[in-house]
Amino acid sequence: MTNVQTSPLASKPQTIGGERFDRRTFLDALLAVGFVSTAAAIAYPVALYLVPPATGEPETASTVAAKAAELKPNSGKVFKFGNRPGIVVRTTEGELRAFSAVCTHLDCTVQFKADTSQLWCACHNGTYDLGGNVVSGPPPRGLERFTVNVRGEGSDAEIVVSRA
Ligand code: FES
Repeated sequence: MTNVQTSPLASKPQTIGGERFDRRTFLDALLAVGFVSTAAAIAYPVALYLVPPATGEPETASTVAAKAAELKPNSGKVFKFGNRPGIVVRTTEGELRAFSAVCTHLDCTVQFKADTSQLWCACHNGTYDLGGNVVSGPPPRGLERFTVNVRGEGSDAEIVVSRA
C-alpha cells in the first residue's frame, strides 16, 4: 500500500467569502498581478520620457563666457549658456559681441572663422556676419544677439553675457 500525500488545496477547493477558490484561480490572479506590475514598470518611465514636464528648464539669464584676456582681436569662443551654446567674438577692432551659437537652420553649433571674420555653420555651409545676420546658406533668419559686459579689470576681467 502506498501513501500518497496531496495538498489540501489540490484535493479540495476552498471557499472564501462564499466563492470557490482553488489553486488555479490563485495562480491566475498571481500571474495577472505580475503582468500588470511589469507593464506599469515599463510604461511609466516611457510615458515620463515622452511627455515633457509642464515647466521647462529655467532659462539662464547671464553667464561668464570667457576671461577677457582669452579673446584676441578677430577670434571667437563657444561657451555654454544654460543648456545651449553661445558664441562670443572679439572683432578686429576689439569690440565684443555675443550670439546664440545655435544655427537657425537645423540647430547645429556655429563657429567663428578668422579667415573671413564670419560665423560659420559647418552642417550646410551657412554663414552669418558679425551682426548675426545671414550672409549665405540655408539659415532662415539671423542669430539671437546677447548683451556683453566686461566685469573686473586686468587679467582677471571676465566677459559676462546676458540675454537682452
Ligand atoms: S544647420 Fe546650420 S546651415 Fe544647416
